[in-house]
Amino acid sequence: MSYQNPRISETAELLKKRLDELENKADILRSIELKALFDELKTLPPEERAVFGAGVNQLRQELGDLVRSARDEGEAKLPLIDVTAPFDVNTPPDKRPRLLSSEQGSQHPLMTELATVLDIFYRMGFMAVESREIDDDFHMFGALNFPEGHPARDDYDTFMTLEKDANGKQFIAPAHTSTMQHRVLQKYKADLENGSPIAVVIPGRVFRNEDLDARHEHTFYQLEGVYVDEGINAGHLIATLKTFLQAYYGKELEVKTQPFYFPFTEPSFEFALSCPFCDKKGCNICSQTGWIELLGCGMIHPNVLHQAGIDTNKYTGFAWGGGIERLVMMKYGIEDIRHFESARLDFLRQFA
Ligand code: DAH
Repeated sequence: MSYQNPRISETAELLKKRLDELENKADILRSIELKALFDELKTLPPEERAVFGAGVNQLRQELGDLVRSARDEGEAKLPLIDVTAPFDVNTPPDKRPRLLSSEQGSQHPLMTELATVLDIFYRMGFMAVESREIDDDFHMFGALNFPEGHPARDDYDTFMTLEKDANGKQFIAPAHTSTMQHRVLQKYKADLENGSPIAVVIPGRVFRNEDLDARHEHTFYQLEGVYVDEGINAGHLIATLKTFLQAYYGKELEVKTQPFYFPFTEPSFEFALSCPFCDKKGCNICSQTGWIELLGCGMIHPNVLHQAGIDTNKYTGFAWGGGIERLVMMKYGIEDIRHFESARLDFLRQFA
């Protein structure tokens, strides 16, 4: 690129040469020479300012493009991360992350609360199975009745790997714990024939490419529930969730459902409970409405049961899935979901 003003073209040449040697390429955008050109701009008479300003901006733009393409090239050369090996035991001790000793640490509040949640479900006859942190397209979508190319897939802002599985599909960081439904149904369907229901809760970490704010985090926890037996209906679903929530919050609560759409349940509902914080009077936690929309749920779609080899003439079931952080935030009046993953000791110590 050429510049009319000799001061700008001299600086351009100098900075481009320096860019080659810089380790952190973005430093070039903070160089004193570039800043000097912007300072000079302010001192010029108005009639010269427009042309000079356009030149300086053009230079900054050009440098920005060079920085970006250097970064993209650098990333392209990096080896792919082996997502199945999150911790390399061969890392020399001085290169490992430095951790607090166990006497100085304490359990993360989410894990403490999760234990309480699971305890309640154990007492209600459920067992727990953990979800996984890397999964595939089939379990995220296919097994859950999302046809190929269905727009509902876009509702889940799913992170995917560049690497592909044997079917040519990218691996995924699960965007919900429903990825486990098919596995659980398959694994425990034999129990149905022996007269026992499938009653499983699935806690797990999930990931979404979200715009972050006080209510949205890219990494969070969900609790999924799956229950299948003969003669199961939506009344069982509502009673199960209400019983759990009353035990967790230690008080009587009202609940309500409204119709919703999920491909893997029919009918599907959005489930709300009366605000346990203000008892429906209206507060900041429930945005003055008295109600909290808590989770998605419904009667498991026959296609999902079918895929897992369960006789839909004989058995029906319900499922639900919702964020664990939301439950905990309401219990303690935590105003921002981002505190959980922030590793801020002043937040964590309040629960130690
Ligand atoms: N997986 C859904 C989500 O994350 C929530 C959900 C809805 C789970 C309905 C279920 C269900 O099991 O039946 O948005």
